[in-house]
Amino acid sequence: MRKERYTFYTLYSVFIGALGGFLYGFQLASIAGALIFLTPAFHLTPLQEGWVVSMLLVGAFGGALCAGTCADRIGRKKTILLAAALCIAGTLLLSFATSYALLLVGRAVAGISIGIISLVTPLYLAEISPPHSRGAFVSFNQLAITMGILVAYLISLSYAKSGDWQMMFAWAIAPALMQVIGGLFLPETPSWLLQHHREESGLATLKKMRIDNQWQSCLDEMKRSASSHKKGGWKTLFQPRLRHVLVLGLALSAFQQITGINAVIYFAPKIFQIAGFASASSAIFASVGIGVINVLATLFSVFLLDRLGRRPLLLTGLIGMIASLLALSFAFFLKSSSIAPIALVSLMSYVAFFAIGLGPITWLLIAEIYPLAVRGKAMTIAVGMSWMSNYLISLIFLDLISYLGSSITFCLFSLISIIALIVIWRYVPETKGKRLEEIENELVR
Ligand code: BGC
Repeated sequence: MRKERYTFYTLYSVFIGALGGFLYGFQLASIAGALIFLTPAFHLTPLQEGWVVSMLLVGAFGGALCAGTCADRIGRKKTILLAAALCIAGTLLLSFATSYALLLVGRAVAGISIGIISLVTPLYLAEISPPHSRGAFVSFNQLAITMGILVAYLISLSYAKSGDWQMMFAWAIAPALMQVIGGLFLPETPSWLLQHHREESGLATLKKMRIDNQWQSCLDEMKRSASSHKKGGWKTLFQPRLRHVLVLGLALSAFQQITGINAVIYFAPKIFQIAGFASASSAIFASVGIGVINVLATLFSVFLLDRLGRRPLLLTGLIGMIASLLALSFAFFLKSSSIAPIALVSLMSYVAFFAIGLGPITWLLIAEIYPLAVRGKAMTIAVGMSWMSNYLISLIFLDLISYLGSSITFCLFSLISIIALIVIWRYVPETKGKRLEEIENELVR
C-alpha cells in the first residue's frame, strides 16, 4: 500500500467530523434505557410510547431530505455546525420536557439533527480524505456510531438505579458542544470550494491537509470533475447515465437496514428474554456485550478496509451474517430451554459480521460512488431510504415475532441477506485506493 502523508490538521478534521457519528449512535440508543422511566413519569400509553421512539426516525427522515441540498448550498462545514446546534436544542428540549408533547418535539428536533448528520458526516469525511486512507477515515463515522450506542447503553445503565432519564438524554450535549466549538476551526472541503469557484481557498486547504506535494494535480482533477456537469440539479440526478449508481446506493441503504441490524440494536434485551435469559438485568448486560462487540468489530474493519478493499469485507460480512441468522433461527426452532447460549453467540457473531461489512461500508460507498455534481442530492435519496427502512423494521419487528415466531423472522432476515449478497457480489465496484474523481470517471461516463 502506498504510504500516505497527511497532516495533524487532517486528523483533527476527521476527529471533529466523526463526532457526528457519535451523536447519531447516542441519540439512537439512549431511548432504550430512558423509556423505562418515561412511561410511568408521563403515564404513556403503548401507542404514545411508540410515538416517542419513532419520532426520532420520522425527524431523521425529514432531516436527511433537507441535508443534501443544504450541504450543497451552504457547504459541508456549515451543515455540520447546524446539525450539531440542532442536536443541542433537541437534547435540551428532551431533558427539560414537562409534557408528552414537548417530549415529541424534542425527539423530532434531535431526529432532524441526526438525519442531517447521517448524510453530511460520511460526505465530509470522504471529501477531506486522501484516497488511500479514505476507507478508514470515512469509517471512523461508523466507529463513532457504535461508540455512541455503547456509551448510551452504559450511561443508561449508570442512571438505571436513580431513574434519572433527563441525564440519560443530557449527556449528548457534551459531544455536540465539542463539535460546535471544534467545528469552527474545520476547513470546508476542497471539492465543495472548487464547485463554488473558490479555487484559491481549495488549494490553501489542500496544502494544509496533505504533505504529498501533489496539490496541483489533485486540484486539476477536482476542477475537471466540478466543471463537467456544474448544474447538478434534481433533473441531472435522474439522467439515465446515473441510474445505476442511484439504484446501487438505494439498494445498499435498504439492505443495511432490512437485514435486521436494528431489530437487534433496539430489541436485544427482548430477544434475550425470549431466548430464556431469566432476569431483565442479565438481558441488559448481554446487550452491553453486543455494544462492545459492535465497536471492536468495526475497529477491525476500519483497519482492514484500505488494505483488503471494500468488496472482500462486504461479502465476508454478509456470509457471516447469513450463517449467524440461520443459527439463530435454528436455535429458536428447537424451542429447548438451553438455547440462551446459542442465541447469545449467534446474535454476537451477527453483529460482528455486520460491523465488519455492511455497517461501515454502506456509509462509505454512498459517499464514494456519486459524481460530485449530484453527490449531496444523491446521498439524500440513499440516506432517506436508510431512515425509512430503519423505521419500517422498528415498526414491524415485534409484530413479526408475535405473528410468525422468532425462528421464521430470523430466517426471513437471512433470506434478505442472501439476496443482498448476490446483488452486492454482482454490482458493487471496488473503490479502494482510488480518487473520488477516478471513481466518478469509471462509474459514470
Ligand atoms: C446503521 C444503524 C445501526 C448501526 C449499528 C449503522 O451503520 O445505519 O442503523 O444502528 O449501524 O451499529
